[in-house]
Amino acid sequence: MEKLWTGRFKKALDSEVNDFNSSIRFDSKMAKQDITGSIAHAAMLGKQGIVTEEESKAIQDTLRQILSELMSGNLSIDPLAEDIHSFVEGELTKRLGDTGKKLHTARSRNDQVALDVRLYLREQIDAICPELSELIEALLSLAAAHRDTIMPGYTHLQRAQPITFGHHLMAYAMMFLRDMDRLADCRRRMNRSPLGCCALAGTTFPIDRVYTAELLGFDGVCENSLDGVSDRDFIIELSAALSIIMTHLSRFSEEMILWCSWEFKFIELDDAYSTGSSIMPQKKNPDIAELVRGKTGRVHGDLMTILTVMKGLPLAYNKDMQEDKECIFDAVDTVLQCLSVFTPMLKTMRVLKENMKRAAAKGFINATDCADYLVGKGLPFRTAYKITGEIVAYCIEKQKTLEELALDEFQSFDPHFDADVYEHIDLTVCAAKRTSRGGTAPQSVDFEIEQAKKRLAELTEKK
Ligand code: ARG
Repeated sequence: MEKLWTGRFKKALDSEVNDFNSSIRFDSKMAKQDITGSIAHAAMLGKQGIVTEEESKAIQDTLRQILSELMSGNLSIDPLAEDIHSFVEGELTKRLGDTGKKLHTARSRNDQVALDVRLYLREQIDAICPELSELIEALLSLAAAHRDTIMPGYTHLQRAQPITFGHHLMAYAMMFLRDMDRLADCRRRMNRSPLGCCALAGTTFPIDRVYTAELLGFDGVCENSLDGVSDRDFIIELSAALSIIMTHLSRFSEEMILWCSWEFKFIELDDAYSTGSSIMPQKKNPDIAELVRGKTGRVHGDLMTILTVMKGLPLAYNKDMQEDKECIFDAVDTVLQCLSVFTPMLKTMRVLKENMKRAAAKGFINATDCADYLVGKGLPFRTAYKITGEIVAYCIEKQKTLEELALDEFQSFDPHFDADVYEHIDLTVCAAKRTSRGGTAPQSVDFEIEQAKKRLAELTEKK
């Protein structure tokens, strides 16, 4: 296939250099966006009288024809083309001759590629958001079902205070809601058209950038042509948002992995979402969760790639920027793939409530409540804390839990203890009393779920 830029050159490109330089391997993913952008450009060229209306129409019709042939598989992309832009223009020219050669008037591959990537990523954000929304909905209904399921809450992975499983799940719902918000934000900033920035400096032709921006569904145009062709912060931003999604999924995966171990046994994964061992017949492994945790490394790496590619580049376009695509495509594909298996894994897991409760009953998880009880009897918190610490030390020595102490044993530490202490240190009561806003009590969880539902509705509407 002949290069777009022949004329100045006397020799063909060295074949290895040709492979090295080519981006068709990955930018053919943007064929649809490239053609859509070109159709808008051709329509604008016609409207502005830069090409005739007939020429504009012929170009648009042929581009539509090329797109439909590509989609139906009747036309395949030439793997030897330099990039998707060259391929499409070459195909157009093959079919239309000189008229096809007019398409690139008042345009450069620099604004073209910036446009294609924005169009492509905008669609990808629109594909990720419903996946996130489905995950959040799954969390909301699980949280409602477990609004009063008691489990140990941890800090430092040490049993800390009893919480409800619904509350724990809602923590993730909040994270994923922010992730959706971040994507919406990123989409809003991304949604400006670079088309018409041309190579770097704009053009002498009387183009109408606002027209093409509107045709392509943008909220406006990039106001500086140098910036429009050379900024990739929308890719960096999306990479960062995707990296945060993966961090959230990874932490959740880590907990799932712990929870389905025999040491915890808080959940059991469905057979369809676990794998076995080739040698150990007893094993049921949480491979999906582990892979999600592992793939987080890739996506974080993708963010580092684009940050590093961009950091030293002078304005405006540099070929280095061709390296922006594989990393962001990989990040998008990985997030979509992870979400599509994570949500059903979550939905189908079995929650082993009794084991959660049993684990919460150990480890003096109600010690804070014992101290709070004494505060209720008029002691200063620090004094109550110290007395409770001594009781815990006594229990450890006697191999008892707080609930198992007799009243006279409690009273030997402080005369304020009464028979009502047992109710105060009951795990269900401990959780139920934490009714502060955002707290773990079932009624607080209900409120959180309501808030989350409202936020989700706003985010789904907004987009
Ligand atoms: N394949 C190139 C990229 O991805 C397209 C833009 C080429 N522009 C140029 N001036 N060589 O960045």
